[in-house]
Amino acid sequence: MYFRRLRSDSAPIQAAMKSAEIRETFLRYFESKGHAIVASSPVVPHEDPTLLFTNAGMNQFKDVFLGFDQRPYSRAVTSQKCIRAGGKHNDLENVGYTARHHTFFEMLGNFSFGDYFKRDAIHFAWELLTGGYGLPAERLWITVYAEDDEAYGIWSAEIGVPAERIVRIGDNKGARYASDNFWMMGDTGPCGPCSEIFFDHGPEVAGGPPGSPDEDGDRYIEIWNLVFMQFNRDDAGVMHPLPKPSVDTGMGLERIAAVLQGVHSNYEIDLFGTLLAAAASAVGAAGGAADPGSPSLKVLADHIRACAFTIADGVIPGNEGRGYVLRRITRRAIRHGYKLGARKPFFHSRVDALAGEMGDAYPELRRQQRRITEVLLQEESRFFETIAHGMEILEAAIAPLRGSSVAVLDGATDSHST
Ligand code: SER
Repeated sequence: MYFRRLRSDSAPIQAAMKSAEIRETFLRYFESKGHAIVASSPVVPHEDPTLLFTNAGMNQFKDVFLGFDQRPYSRAVTSQKCIRAGGKHNDLENVGYTARHHTFFEMLGNFSFGDYFKRDAIHFAWELLTGGYGLPAERLWITVYAEDDEAYGIWSAEIGVPAERIVRIGDNKGARYASDNFWMMGDTGPCGPCSEIFFDHGPEVAGGPPGSPDEDGDRYIEIWNLVFMQFNRDDAGVMHPLPKPSVDTGMGLERIAAVLQGVHSNYEIDLFGTLLAAAASAVGAAGGAADPGSPSLKVLADHIRACAFTIADGVIPGNEGRGYVLRRITRRAIRHGYKLGARKPFFHSRVDALAGEMGDAYPELRRQQRRITEVLLQEESRFFETIAHGMEILEAAIAPLRGSSVAVLDGATDSHST
């Protein structure tokens, strides 16, 4: 439908792909180009103390890029489970209120370990986007690192992207982690210049092209980041050349699905449709009700994924480190359910819907379905007891004031005063 609207010319029309098909198309495309399909690593990078959670597809290949580890393949493709809540790229407080922030998301990526470099990475990306996914070329914008004439030349001379849609972006040397068009995994580790591909949602959406003063609008959305891994950054910030130039790319599944399904918000894609419906019915069964567009429902649809995948990979709610982040996400979800009127545990009941939706791609969800449900139920039960107790105290403090002119509770009122 979307492409019928987008492509009023006689170009072939492609029906909107579902998320599962988009994921599969990505893996198969790169397999056909000699890439080994590698399973997602856990969201918990047990081996890497520099990371709280896996935040990009390249994490599991860090040592391969650095030359410390070797694999039986020099090209790989993955659909990686990522969490960005706590540590670098912490998106937690935005989730539910924006169209594209998530605590958990899937990153589709292809990797070269000293095999191909810029030329093939760019040609692959273009062929898949315009051929495999059928995106209209004229809707795609490109950014390159300011000094990267080689990448600019490939986009311009070989792919044929017109100069007005290729933007050179400098690096932001003052930034602690991410510099524009220079991607770093963290304070230390593999890094390099990158080239990003943007989709233009059209003039009816506010926002300017990348690099312009109003680039933060929603019109031009980054969909794919091609990183040309060239350096290892040490503790002192010094860049050492990697043994072999490599490639690390990342495309958020939810974003490309939104583009291909012709919707503006990631929460409107097929995958979230199921999770939002499950959230609404769980809240309803616990005595609440939600407007379908409510940010709280989006919070629930998002957070169940981060919680379930984190628990599946061995974390339990706790008071420090990863366990603490998991507890914060779980409690944020429950608070939003409470806000919608849920008065008893509900969140755990949505693990089944999630396993139904994503269990084919990530079988650990089905294997651990019961355990995830139990861990969440325990955390929820404790939280609801605490809330119930707190509400009793509040009620007891307010009751004697009803009908009086006192509208403000004494700051000293606490559990001891009841
Ligand atoms: N590592 C890059 C990113 O996370 C590309 O995969 O954007």
